[in-house]
Amino acid sequence: MCGIIGILGGKAVAPLLIDGLRRLEYRGYDSAGIATLSNGAIDRRRSEGKLANLADLVDRDPIEGTIGIGHTRWATHGRPSEANAHPHANERVAVVHNGIIENFQELRRELEAQGHVFETETDSEVIVHLISEQLNQQKTPQDAVAAALKRLEGAFALAILFAGRHDLMIGARRGSPLAVGFGSGEMYLGSDALALAPLTDRICYLEEGDWVVLDHGDAQVFDETDQPVAREVKQTALSGAMIGKGQYRHFMQKEIYEQPAVIGDTLHSLINPMSRTVELPDVPLDLGKVSRFTCCACGTAHYATAVAKYWFEQIARQPVEIDIASEFRYREAPMPEGGVGLFVSQSGETIDTLSALRYAKQQGQTILSIVNVPESAIARESDGVLPTLAGPEIGVASTKAFTTQLAVLACLAIAVGRARGTIDGEQEARLSQSLIEVPARVTEVLQSDAAIKAIAADLIYTRDVLYLGRGLLFPIALEGALKLKELSYIHAEGYAAGEMKHGPIALIDEDVPVIVCAPSGPLFEKTAGNVQEVRARGGAVILISDRAGIERIGEYARHCIEMPAIDPFVAPILYSIPVQLLAYHTAAQKGTDVDQPRNLAKSVTVE
Ligand code: F6R
Repeated sequence: MCGIIGILGGKAVAPLLIDGLRRLEYRGYDSAGIATLSNGAIDRRRSEGKLANLADLVDRDPIEGTIGIGHTRWATHGRPSEANAHPHANERVAVVHNGIIENFQELRRELEAQGHVFETETDSEVIVHLISEQLNQQKTPQDAVAAALKRLEGAFALAILFAGRHDLMIGARRGSPLAVGFGSGEMYLGSDALALAPLTDRICYLEEGDWVVLDHGDAQVFDETDQPVAREVKQTALSGAMIGKGQYRHFMQKEIYEQPAVIGDTLHSLINPMSRTVELPDVPLDLGKVSRFTCCACGTAHYATAVAKYWFEQIARQPVEIDIASEFRYREAPMPEGGVGLFVSQSGETIDTLSALRYAKQQGQTILSIVNVPESAIARESDGVLPTLAGPEIGVASTKAFTTQLAVLACLAIAVGRARGTIDGEQEARLSQSLIEVPARVTEVLQSDAAIKAIAADLIYTRDVLYLGRGLLFPIALEGALKLKELSYIHAEGYAAGEMKHGPIALIDEDVPVIVCAPSGPLFEKTAGNVQEVRARGGAVILISDRAGIERIGEYARHCIEMPAIDPFVAPILYSIPVQLLAYHTAAQKGTDVDQPRNLAKSVTVE
């Protein structure tokens, strides 16, 4: 989604703004721009497409100034184009905006009637004219912004620059996050802390409805009633060095390879390896007395909750409901007394997940969240947080965030099972031990990378691919299909293997590869039957299984990916790796934009 950076500094600001935008690229965007004050006048450079286009433009036509704002835009209202790119500006004010102004049509009509001339198709441009209208009435910039904010409906994070005011920048947030960075004699605004990482490690997060007035040395924060408020300034652990690609070709590849380490870090924070027991921090409730867990998330994070449903039910006999957050938030679902709302999100800012959380809170649920960004809105609004220790995930497609979410959910299932008395100490030790061994097994799976790359070469010309799995592997089939379609633009569907006969089998012919995730275990023979059915119809099976599984049905497959023999409990974590690699190599060999697939955004902060 869109990204914001603002710098009120002492040096040439254009290169710093472009650098900041680069760190926001991972969020997804289709145009970008910057505005500065050059001799007191607003100057802008904007361009469609990648940031390299903007950087080239600034090289050809430099832009001066020590104060400026920048933006990466992911189109909502108005197509991606230079004219619609932010900053939007007139001769008095320049604005960058994340979010959606819901009443922009009504405001635009009103402002046009007052003589304002609009240049773009965007909702954001009304903010420029609203503020200018107030300035025209001789208000100070602060008063003009305060008045304009009261007219806006919808979600926004804003950074605003004023002609002739080198010493002033104003930011505001409602619905979309905005961070204030404190430098020495410099101040910053950023849509997330990563944008500000190399500039400062002192960050203050604005709260809902806050707006902030920056000068060179300080920030004055006001709440939505315009009362001055104090907001805590925190030290952030993010550093600019953490976001390079290292020896890898893509961030996604690097992040796939980081999984042994980050799954290990996450598990170490939750499992005592000596006693082989799960020790959860920060869970403000009796896990043995939860009437129901209602899990909400989006996309890949939703598939993590789908795996968790099997775990919670099998290990803890715990009733669990899962739902896609965008559906749940409008379903008006009744929620039980003594229930827990469990929200899973890498970014911690996904608007649907955040809104579902707020609904669950209103319904009296205790709120637990599993997030990768500890300072995020979802974390801040939760009663208890179980962090994934995946580190910054830059590739748009979730990889290490997903497997660390699974690691946390597996530990939570064990803790709930223990609290409900459905597992004893010995079973807890066995399950914990199988988790402790996961990082080493992931390293083994990564050794199949070259073989998986060769198999992916077979997929790049296909139009459709099916993924099948049963039980704990059904969500991994869904995840595999999502990864392949979002990265390679090949149509893919995941199915519960038992559902194949109820429709999808009609699609199977020699042109449709079927990727089957089938570890040895109680459900193996059932899935083996599905493999035979696919073969009988000429379909090409790619079998992901362990040695025993491959010995049993490998002869019916065109390709086999051999996995280590493992406890079925941890199979979803391990089997995520080959489906990630298949999608990665298919996309990389097709030549698509692996780290920033078209139309996608890393953090979906608008509906
Ligand atoms: C797919 C992917 C998305 C995210 C989804 C939720 O690879 O990354 O489906 O999982 O947008 O994002 P978060 O986890 O930030 O709430």
